[in-house]
Amino acid sequence: MYPLKRNRRLRTTEAMRSLVRENTITANDFIVPVFVVEGNGVKDEIPSMPNYYRYSLDTLQDEIKELWSLGLKSVLLFVKVPENLKDNAGKEALNPDGLMQRAIKTVKNTCPEMIVMTDVALDPYSQYGHDGIVANGEIVNDPTTTFLANMALSHAQAGADVIAPSDMMDGRILAMRSLLEEEGFYNTGIMSYSAKYASAFYGPFRDALDSAPVDLQDIPKDKKSYQMDPANREEAIRETLMDIDEGADIVMVKPGLCYLDIVRDIRNVVDIPVAVYQVSGEYAMLKAAAEKGWLDHDAVMMEQILSIKRAGATLIASYFAKDVVKLLS
Ligand code: PBG
Repeated sequence: MYPLKRNRRLRTTEAMRSLVRENTITANDFIVPVFVVEGNGVKDEIPSMPNYYRYSLDTLQDEIKELWSLGLKSVLLFVKVPENLKDNAGKEALNPDGLMQRAIKTVKNTCPEMIVMTDVALDPYSQYGHDGIVANGEIVNDPTTTFLANMALSHAQAGADVIAPSDMMDGRILAMRSLLEEEGFYNTGIMSYSAKYASAFYGPFRDALDSAPVDLQDIPKDKKSYQMDPANREEAIRETLMDIDEGADIVMVKPGLCYLDIVRDIRNVVDIPVAVYQVSGEYAMLKAAAEKGWLDHDAVMMEQILSIKRAGATLIASYFAKDVVKLLS
């Protein structure tokens, strides 16, 4: 007897397919990364990230209004720090009137309901391009976590809703959570980059912020002593569970597409939201292939986003967020 079960019955029409679809994408799925620079009237395209821009505080306001009108409800802020303000201690990162602090206030003044998330790591402020303080040829852990906790506090004081530490130091979540509680910021969320890999996909982002590790003798030229080894899977679970114990509200896997096995592993063992960061190199790859006419931009973009969601993402930080919601409407 020919099969009683025919899986194709549920694929016959778009209406039927939509009834049995397991995952859908909406504007609620996204966190929009936003790059901010000093200046006036700046909307500066990032060469390795076509159609993605750095904004000065005035042009940022229009962008925020547009994002909100599209239904996008959260931004993740990054700042490009002038070279003369960089050091090895992150002094400028704690400036209450620094670019990040002003950017937070600008977003909140423009659109009070927009969820403001902020990157917490030393690299855009570091003369060495490292996420922590460099001493004796090493990125030193404990002095860095103390500093990062103060940086997190400074963002909270400026009005950030969620702090997003991307540095991968040990113990930083506990340091930040403790200080935020102590100072009365008990409603400030922490989205921890818990399983962040030492990836070559961050190249365009480092172009955008001019934040790549410097090539100097006695200074590590990569971030492999703190970001995770791409060969490791079990370790991602350990890192993530520790961050939850230390007080993270949302955990994150980064990058996205090459690490979907990790996303699923983590989704299966944690009971809090899991964010995935589809990073700059992933964006650049598709833009480049589409420019050459080798891939259908929109179709591949949607397939990638859907795959990240299917793998287990609750939230997706993506440079495609605007493109996706425009396509959806
Ligand atoms: C900073 C930071 C990086 C990214 C997010 N936060 C770069 C890095 O760790 O070197 C990368 C994001 C992207 O590539 O889109 N710590």
